[in-house]
Amino acid sequence: MRLDKFLCDMGEGTRSQVKQKIRKGCVTVDGQAARKPELSVTSENRICVDGRPVSYVKLEYYMLNKPAGVLSATRDPDQPTVLSLIRDKRRKDLFPAGRLDKDTEGLLLITNDGVLAHSLLSPKKHVDKRYYAKVAGVVTEEHVRLFAGGLALGDEKPALPAVLEIQKAGKVSHVFVTLREGRYHQVKRMFQAVGCEVLYLKRLSMGSLCLDESLKPGEYRSLTQEEVENLKDNSQNQENHKC
Ligand code: URA
Repeated sequence: MRLDKFLCDMGEGTRSQVKQKIRKGCVTVDGQAARKPELSVTSENRICVDGRPVSYVKLEYYMLNKPAGVLSATRDPDQPTVLSLIRDKRRKDLFPAGRLDKDTEGLLLITNDGVLAHSLLSPKKHVDKRYYAKVAGVVTEEHVRLFAGGLALGDEKPALPAVLEIQKAGKVSHVFVTLREGRYHQVKRMFQAVGCEVLYLKRLSMGSLCLDESLKPGEYRSLTQEEVENLKDNSQNQENHKC
């Protein structure tokens, strides 16, 4: 890879900024000042900018416990986004794999692995997404039956059958919902279709990946190697786990 691309990928500046740094002699490769942006380098080379070592990371995977009030986007001119919460990211091409509404909390995968994100989100793959919700009104076994039957949401096709589990039925009911797809505002629209309103929503899992409950809203951690591998297998085999 070209030296300027290496540095650019690792967030050392725009292509023209890193070219300038290289030409000024601020960048060394194996101890020698490198003055050519097009110099070919590999991850085996020891690369420093202003004496600070810069190593190469190809793929990054973070699990974020998204807080309410933050947008699921890479950037926004007016408000914080989920990307601005990942403070020690190395790559500049990270994005959220799927979206949660601004007021929804919980599991969000932040990565630059487009292949994995596509296979987790593709409607054809049916990777389970599990949510915890608080709903205004009494949720009943009739609602469970309606969710299992595939609700009409006013889209071209009805929703796929979804699993609704009642944890506590009351004035405010506490439930778990497992979807096999990810349509816009889907959980809220499904409850709306049966005459209920979602008051609070949190995603607990996506395929085999479960939210680490030690993460408070706004906190994040890198995925373990095992979590990444399970997620990859999972997106291929359509195996899902209950967290
Ligand atoms: N369903 C919703 O209604 N909102 C979300 O954020 C996720 C699923």
